[in-house]
Amino acid sequence: MNATAASCPVHEGRDDRKSARLAAENLKPHEGSRVVGTFGAAREILRSPKVRQAGATAEMVDLSKPNEISFFFLDGDLHRRRRAAVAGLFAPKTIVTRHHAVMNRTMDAIVAKLQKQGSAPLDELSWQMAVDVAADIVGLTNSDSNENLANRVKAVLDSSIERKPGLLNNLIFTIKSVFRVGKFWKHDLLPAIEARRIEPKDDVISYMVKENYSKKGMIMECLSYGGAGMMTTREFIVMCAWHMFEKPELRERFLTGSEEDQFAILEEILRLEPVASLLHRRAEEKVEGAQGGEMAEGEVVCVNLREANTDEAITGPCPYELDPDRAKRMKVVGPYLSFGDGPHRCPGAQVALHETRIFLDRMFRLPGIRLMSEPEVIWNPQIQGYELRGAVVACDPA
Ligand code: HEM
Repeated sequence: MNATAASCPVHEGRDDRKSARLAAENLKPHEGSRVVGTFGAAREILRSPKVRQAGATAEMVDLSKPNEISFFFLDGDLHRRRRAAVAGLFAPKTIVTRHHAVMNRTMDAIVAKLQKQGSAPLDELSWQMAVDVAADIVGLTNSDSNENLANRVKAVLDSSIERKPGLLNNLIFTIKSVFRVGKFWKHDLLPAIEARRIEPKDDVISYMVKENYSKKGMIMECLSYGGAGMMTTREFIVMCAWHMFEKPELRERFLTGSEEDQFAILEEILRLEPVASLLHRRAEEKVEGAQGGEMAEGEVVCVNLREANTDEAITGPCPYELDPDRAKRMKVVGPYLSFGDGPHRCPGAQVALHETRIFLDRMFRLPGIRLMSEPEVIWNPQIQGYELRGAVVACDPA
């Protein structure tokens, strides 16, 4: 059991990762942060009540106006309260009794479209699934159509990551993003807010209306669900599909296995191909760590999920090999740290796994399903993550 990746006699040198090379070339921890890459230390830091969110643009956020910022940037009691208020939306029972219906309905539309057209870009199909599911949780359900909502959300999120250096570019960026946010506000968010003022529902917008969030606060919260829940799941679905198109025995196991086994496959792919690679934390006070997770007061640490997920102390031998039985054998949670850990651990983890499972299970059972062109792995420096573009799937007509 002590063999290392290099010394393992059976799998010497095997590396199933598709995003690792580009990540290694491009990952940029925040300036001045200390990188932590062992699983034990990473988990200790993420779980510590003494650390604060330091990711994304946390240093620019004005914490004195909590109703104008996403709970992604909050910590402590306020963060706990906000998470508790929406926890029911992500509960296992809600996933089965409510979100499965949305996932299956979206899949009906995706299958019909694919069979009619004959082929389609895979990331467009996975985007539709990711948007429909997250939109229902957020409460963006009063738009003129799901497709228009998906396009407008995409336009806003794209403009938030399209920013290039230079004064003129900044100006163009600002005009573009104000225009796109304006359209999203008018056609999607405002109608949803007005409908919930009359009749509240069980979703994030109803909660924000009840708590009197400002317009800016509501837009920010919706966009963080867009970034955290939609963009991530779009890439994850394409990544899993790519691995399974390429490995017929893995696809066969997925299609004939129990739900539990299907999740084990998806989680193992996510361990190897984390969509978010770096999480940052600042120590509010000195942090003690039994497994190397100590931090000095004020210190900023960059937790490298890719390194932590392939730490042989917790993966066992051959850490770069796609082995769906690994987590069970090692008695670790399947995705390792790909959904984070501690108070900010992704609330949508189970939702993402269920929608990916349903998407792939339905897609791979379509007669004649095939991958016409493989995706290109692109690096998105703004979100420090990979994007898979250009994959086209085709199937037989209905
Ligand atoms: C494969 C898909 C997904 C991945 C890889 C992913 C990954 C993550 C990670 C790593 C974090 C922790 C950030 C940190 O600690 O700084 C996070 C937080 C979050 N995720 Fe996800 N996520 C996914 C899907 C979703 C979905 C479907 C939703 C909702 C519909 C969602 C909503 C959120 C929210 C709101 C947070 C902030 C939580 C907090 O700060 O307390 N995510 N996600």
